Amino acid sequence: MLSTMALFLVLLGTLCSFIYFFRTLTTNKNDRKLPPGPTPPPIIGNLYMLGKLPHQSLHRLAQRYGPIMSIKLGHVPTIVVSSPEAAELFLKVHDVVFANRPKVQASDYLTCGAKGMVFTEYGPYWRMVRKWCISHLLGTWKVESFAPVRKADMVSLVESVRTMAVEGGTLNLSQQVGKVVEVIMSRVIFGRCMDDEIELKPLIEETMYLAGVFNLSDYVPFLAPLDLQGIERRLKRTSNGLHAFFDKLIDEIEQGSTNIEEPKSYTDFFHVMVSLLNTPMNPTDKVQYIIGRENIKAIMVDMVAASFDTTTTAIEWTLSELLRHPRVVAGLQQELETVVGKNRMVEESDLPKLTYLNMVIKESFRLHPVAPLLVPHESTEDITVNGYFIPKISRILVNAWSMGRDRTVWSDNAEEFCPERFENSSIDLRGHDFQLIPFGTGRRGCPGMQLGLTTLRLIIAQLVHCFDWELPDAILPSELDMTEKFGLTLPRANHLFAKPTYRLVG
Ligand code: HEM
Ligand SMILES: *[C@@H]1O[C@H](CO)[C@@H](O)[C@H](O)[C@H]1NC(C)=O
Ligand SMILES: *[C@@H]1O[C@H](CO)[C@@H](O)[C@H](O)[C@H]1NC(C)=O
Ligand SMILES: *[C@@H]1O[C@H](CO)[C@@H](O)[C@H](O)[C@H]1NC(C)=O
Repeated sequence: MLSTMALFLVLLGTLCSFIYFFRTLTTNKNDRKLPPGPTPPPIIGNLYMLGKLPHQSLHRLAQRYGPIMSIKLGHVPTIVVSSPEAAELFLKVHDVVFANRPKVQASDYLTCGAKGMVFTEYGPYWRMVRKWCISHLLGTWKVESFAPVRKADMVSLVESVRTMAVEGGTLNLSQQVGKVVEVIMSRVIFGRCMDDEIELKPLIEETMYLAGVFNLSDYVPFLAPLDLQGIERRLKRTSNGLHAFFDKLIDEIEQGSTNIEEPKSYTDFFHVMVSLLNTPMNPTDKVQYIIGRENIKAIMVDMVAASFDTTTTAIEWTLSELLRHPRVVAGLQQELETVVGKNRMVEESDLPKLTYLNMVIKESFRLHPVAPLLVPHESTEDITVNGYFIPKISRILVNAWSMGRDRTVWSDNAEEFCPERFENSSIDLRGHDFQLIPFGTGRRGCPGMQLGLTTLRLIIAQLVHCFDWELPDAILPSELDMTEKFGLTLPRANHLFAKPTYRLVG
């Protein structure tokens, strides 16, 4: 990729100098000072500096230029925010101005012209969808009402890992965790588990990658026809796959041919939505939105994309850190023995009592925020922040990854995994403390936090309580590979494997 870009730089060299020349002639002098940042070469801007792991490159640049940094991604003015104080300015003080999302081509395709929630323009439609999703899926009482679903799936998870433990084999933890998250989330979202359907997971993984990748064509429009990164092709394929998948499901419900697996104690999200097909979603409001197939598909894509991968990735990173830190596992198991005891599995009602577990999860999110640059925001008007001029339609990237490594906040051992740092600290991860915002905060903060946190706490607690874990092939804890792979979410580059041993009595 870098070499392609370098080649282009050379090819465009002459053109660039022309444009530079032209620019200096035409820019009118003004005292509106942009935040500091590296000088962007024309046309391609600072894109070439992002490399394979943009959050890390931006972290290094921010050390040089400061927590409010200005760069150019192609022709798009971009502000990179990398400190808690700065994040507070953008996500709280001036939240309204930065509550929009940039138009991302991937989302145009995948969610029918941004009819979902994640990449939808700030405004009445987005507000309605968000409210609706919270009341039917993501709100606290709704999340609690799904507890019986999770309980049944926990039993099968433990059973299947236990079988593997008896055989003495090595478990593909990435796969096992991905599967159980998929099952739990699908039951909540679709009302059934998707085991028998076409593989949804690969489609979602591809979606996350496509939504997160820095699309050269988005930033440098005249290169679009070349599709240098091969993104366009992949996008079409994924989009077709997702549409076909949801069309089939909607058809099934409409024709009443879904095979209900079991009587359910709850109503799942998808059935509620399909039952409202072609009726207004918000009958009591002045401006009403009729819910059509496209809306349903778009919202579903967003729900599935926002829940499967984020939750799985968070669990994978936490388990990876645990495998690297046996001391922390011992602490956790001790807490679990005290609170739960060795005679039974963890119940959801135990979770509030597991304070060390909460510290472990915070620490894992600090070092491995699942969405390292959150989801990009966009400014809707010219504004001055901290003395800097931020033009309208700038893209805002909040580097949560960088903030988790800030030595002035986390002291000199910022790079170390040490849950005890939260022992006497009031810092929480729910968005009130700007040092730790893995779920974002403010108007665009993650509405699925409750669902995500409950699911991941339960799965981690269960796996640590019921099993001892060991790395395969005599890998030492300190040797476990922790390489990251960039996308909208930041999964492990390599899958995680470990050997379980059952540790409960009976
Ligand atoms: C560990 C799990 C999760 C993490 C770390 C996470 C993180 C995030 C982050 C960082 C954002 C962007 C916030 C911003 O732009 O300021 C976000 C947005 C969002 N998340 Fe989550 N999320 C998780 C789970 C979920 C789940 C389970 C759902 C449920 C469907 C969900 C639904 C959404 C939606 C719909 C948005 C877009 C909100 C908007 O633009 O208005 N998330 N999430
Ligand atoms: C990249 O941008 C081009 C042009 O804006 C668009 O046609 C294409 O679909 C985009 N691809 C992705 C993955 O966003
Ligand atoms: C482990 O699981 C991942 C994710 O499900 C899968 O892609 C990978 O091929 C698996 N690896 C092995 C060796 O089975
Ligand atoms: C937290 O406070 C307690 C009591 O004041 C103290 O014993 C403990 O060492 C502190 N822990 C940390 C990590 O500072």
